[in-house]
Amino acid sequence: MYRAAITGTGVLTPSEVITNAELVAAFNAYADKYNAAHAAEIEAGDLPAKAHSSVDFIVAASGIEQRHVIDKTGVLDPDRMYPHLRARTDEEPSLMAEIGVDAINTALAQAGISADKVDLVICAASNIERAYPAVAVEIQQLIGAGGFAFDMNVACSSATFGIQTAADMIRTGSVRTAVVVNPEITSAHLEWRDRDCHFIFGDVATATVLQREDDAKGDHFIVRSTRCATVFSNNIRNNAGFMRMARDQMDDRRDMQFMQNGRKVFKEVLPLVSQHMAEHMADEGIVADDLKRLWLHQANKSMNDYIGKKVLGRDPAPGEQPNILQDYANTSSAGSIIAFAQHSGDLKSGDLGIICSFGAGYSVGSVVVQKA
Ligand code: COA
Repeated sequence: MYRAAITGTGVLTPSEVITNAELVAAFNAYADKYNAAHAAEIEAGDLPAKAHSSVDFIVAASGIEQRHVIDKTGVLDPDRMYPHLRARTDEEPSLMAEIGVDAINTALAQAGISADKVDLVICAASNIERAYPAVAVEIQQLIGAGGFAFDMNVACSSATFGIQTAADMIRTGSVRTAVVVNPEITSAHLEWRDRDCHFIFGDVATATVLQREDDAKGDHFIVRSTRCATVFSNNIRNNAGFMRMARDQMDDRRDMQFMQNGRKVFKEVLPLVSQHMAEHMADEGIVADDLKRLWLHQANKSMNDYIGKKVLGRDPAPGEQPNILQDYANTSSAGSIIAFAQHSGDLKSGDLGIICSFGAGYSVGSVVVQKA
């Protein structure tokens, strides 16, 4: 058995930013137009009027202040409320591949290796652009990697589940160098016209390079252990897929985007994650004081505050549990990897931390890492 190490990470942050104020202005303009167009039905009580959104609510409920997106003009157009994502021909790189490759190049540069050393590419994301061929295989070809590649989807836990998969293959020797890439085009599966969730998501791509530890050239984190768990729930759901497509007579396609019962998710996922992390730490012989950092999934600030407090048994000190959701919003599987990539450079040899993501499924994935 070999030891696996994380030797590089990369984050591709789209240049376009939507602030809460811009988002709320567009949403409220859309709501006003909708209410004016349906004034008679609303007056008769046949249709509920659309309520305004608010910046104060968004910050208080989530901690989110802005999000990066591939295209803001489409999202902020009250007559559209959906990004302009140019359909690619079959001869062009897919959008996921394009932003994924950028994040991978950064991660490979940090690891100090060229792409021809990579013998596994896992494209792990909550929505994949097409059914097949796998986007991962396209990425494998674009970067010039060898070996094999495949897509996987465990929603917001896709990155940590991907890291476990890659680390296990490195441990057994079936691969030597792996890339787990998370191109999350969340703007394409968010209903920007739904006040309850229009503020939640942002776009990004992250990549993590994993290698046999003996091959690591520079600073790296040993993957001490990984743990994945799932419990079925309908509280976060997206029905897009071939069975739903077949019901083409239905004009209501709302369920083919992100749907959630946010309050239930909040209540049910917290104990699941806290217990999962506590058990993982106990099995590793780690106590709270051994941990230098928690890189948590980035969906909601109060959720992270709660989990941090539960895991550490006290309020996390500033910097101990870095949040990036105020700048990126929820970027699905990429969130904990952005936090890790941006807030791990200062750790010292021997320092321990946990990357933990959670979300639809329900799913929870944790990775205990130690700075070499
Ligand atoms: N602007 C203003 N008010 C809003 C609003 C908006 N955009 N959206 C909802 N509200 C109002 C509601 O109408 C409701 O008002 P009422 O009490 O008068 O009925 C009130 O705010 C509370 O709504 P609720 O949906 O219960 O809010 P919340 O405080 O639970 O926050 C979430 C909503 C989604 C931010 C929160 O539940 C959450 O983050 N849950 C976990 C989400 C998660 O992790 N999902 C995983 C995704 S991968």
